[in-house]
Amino acid sequence: MPNIFNIGLGNDNPAIRENAESDYISFWADQAKKLSWFSSWEKTLQWNPPFAKWFEGGLINASFNALDIHQKDKGKKPAIIWVAESGESRILTFEDLWIEVNKFANVLKSLGITKGDRITIYLPMVPELPISMLACARIGAIHTVVFSGFSSISIKERIEDSKSKIVVTSDGGYRRGQIVKLKEVVDEAIQNLDFVKNVIVLEHTKEPIQLTSKDKLWGELMKGVSSECEPEKLDSLHPLYILYTSGTTGKPKGVLHGTGGYLTHVHSTFGWAFDIKDDDVFFCTADIGWVTGHSYVVYGPLLHGATEIMYEGAPDYPDSSKMWSIIQKYKVSIFYTTPTALRMFMKFGDHIPNSFDLSNLRLLGTVGEPINPEVWKWYYMIIGKEKCPIIDTWWQTETGGMMISALPGIETISLKPGSGTRPIPGVHISVVDENGIEVTPNTKGYLIIKKPWPGMLLTLWGDDEKFKNAYWSKFPNAYYSGDYAKIDQDGYFWLLGRADDVLKIAGHRIGTAELESCIVSHEDVAESAVCGIPDNVKGEVIIAFAVLLDNVKKNSELIKKEIFEKIRKDIGPIATPKQIHFVKKLPKTRSGKIMRRLLKAIANNETIGDISTLEDGAAVTEVQTAFNNLLESINEKNN
Ligand code: WTA
Repeated sequence: MPNIFNIGLGNDNPAIRENAESDYISFWADQAKKLSWFSSWEKTLQWNPPFAKWFEGGLINASFNALDIHQKDKGKKPAIIWVAESGESRILTFEDLWIEVNKFANVLKSLGITKGDRITIYLPMVPELPISMLACARIGAIHTVVFSGFSSISIKERIEDSKSKIVVTSDGGYRRGQIVKLKEVVDEAIQNLDFVKNVIVLEHTKEPIQLTSKDKLWGELMKGVSSECEPEKLDSLHPLYILYTSGTTGKPKGVLHGTGGYLTHVHSTFGWAFDIKDDDVFFCTADIGWVTGHSYVVYGPLLHGATEIMYEGAPDYPDSSKMWSIIQKYKVSIFYTTPTALRMFMKFGDHIPNSFDLSNLRLLGTVGEPINPEVWKWYYMIIGKEKCPIIDTWWQTETGGMMISALPGIETISLKPGSGTRPIPGVHISVVDENGIEVTPNTKGYLIIKKPWPGMLLTLWGDDEKFKNAYWSKFPNAYYSGDYAKIDQDGYFWLLGRADDVLKIAGHRIGTAELESCIVSHEDVAESAVCGIPDNVKGEVIIAFAVLLDNVKKNSELIKKEIFEKIRKDIGPIATPKQIHFVKKLPKTRSGKIMRRLLKAIANNETIGDISTLEDGAAVTEVQTAFNNLLESINEKNN
């Protein structure tokens, strides 16, 4: 099989790249003009590093751009086709969605919510999730969606940080035939949080729930409410949302996105990457609790007036053909998913997708983690039947939208499995060494972004200092992504995994520090370190090492069980390690930094290899001793 695939959709618009290259600022202004503004901005970009102000003074509203502008031509067009794992489904047209959003915006107002207030949304993948987000956007409230797999302690942390006045949740959500009781999780999370005035509970599963004095039922609130709510005319820089994500420090970071710049970025990339047409049926499998869902389930498709599938449940439930049967039934033409999902589908066997009619597919995409070339080829052959381009899109919660991707909507480019191809027009990405010097082709380095881009986070919620330190302190005047990459001789980018202490488990971002502090908070644990090792489905899985306190008498299997439970309870099941090893000592450098590479090598049963390149110049003998000690103590414990 070749390693280069020449496949495009016949679109060729070289002017886009040419314009971006000649003046990236006016290029982005041209893209922004494709949205509906109540009034134009004064200056396209004010760059006061590291703070970028895009389109300041321009007045805009995200829900107006997602819904109102489509009412005349596309009111009766399906916007969201909601499908649940049970087979249940609902279709909401652009008009239906617009009415619900207006009504819910009025509900929020009636509960005292005004511009700038924060609202936490903890809902399963149901249409009321985008409805809640767009209702917030309509009145200028800032939504902060928390993935419905997170535990009460994680939600509490996020609600406390954002000081949300209202939490929107449901009586439950469906997952593998079970009902996940979300309302109970919220009840626990908001205990003693007096600033939370109300909890709005959507009656989704009809599971019996206990109501408290703060609780209001969605159905009751929506009765008799006016379906007209004027959209607020908001400054381009008005915050649209906070989305918490894991970083290298213990606490999750509240990534803050604005309105005009973010919408411009998402609108542009959605069109360029997915070549969206009026009759397309788009299906992105991401949960809205993550950034992919924000940008390419909610804002991107709706800004373009596209029809999309929204799925609630596990992708392989009730059986492993679920995704293919949805694609066949609803004639999906564009499919965007994760390499983890693809590796799982691939393991189930070709006969499953081969027994479905996937002939409407014309474009495929992946996101969230590197895709192995063999999985890429399987996606290309078995799902795309050698006729669909595959876009491998690199970006981050912080970038707001895609930054590196093939763009079949505007150009044809040869695809190389495993490479995201090139940066999108109007962004400036490079790969540098430790000193910030650009590396030569095919050399691994750090991926940085050299100039501001419209989807760029405004800051971290309430913490400009942390924003500066986390992203702008490693290299002068450049955004540090935390990723390794290389650029090949043809200018193609290859993403080579995280360079920092962030793990990507099944495409989800998990901070090692967050997990370690959770493990250490177990009463018998003195110290802990976690690392990721390769896994042929999830990409990476977590291996945890812990040093127990001296006088612990408890059975170590029991402690392990307790730690597993604690992680599920404090963070959520996605952060559960595959293994926990008890050790006497953790390998550290002289400066006290845990040598994760050593841990990884040990967890992988590898030899330590070249240790002379270890960060902060740790002495080889010191490392060797630490390695041997660790190995010995693992063996001892395991015997
Ligand atoms: C990783 C997800 C390789 C990367 C949109 C990045 C990728 C992190 C790719 C951001 C890709 C994302 N190839 N790696 N196509 N896309 N990543 O914030 O490590 O959840 O820094 O955003 O995912 O994860 P986040």
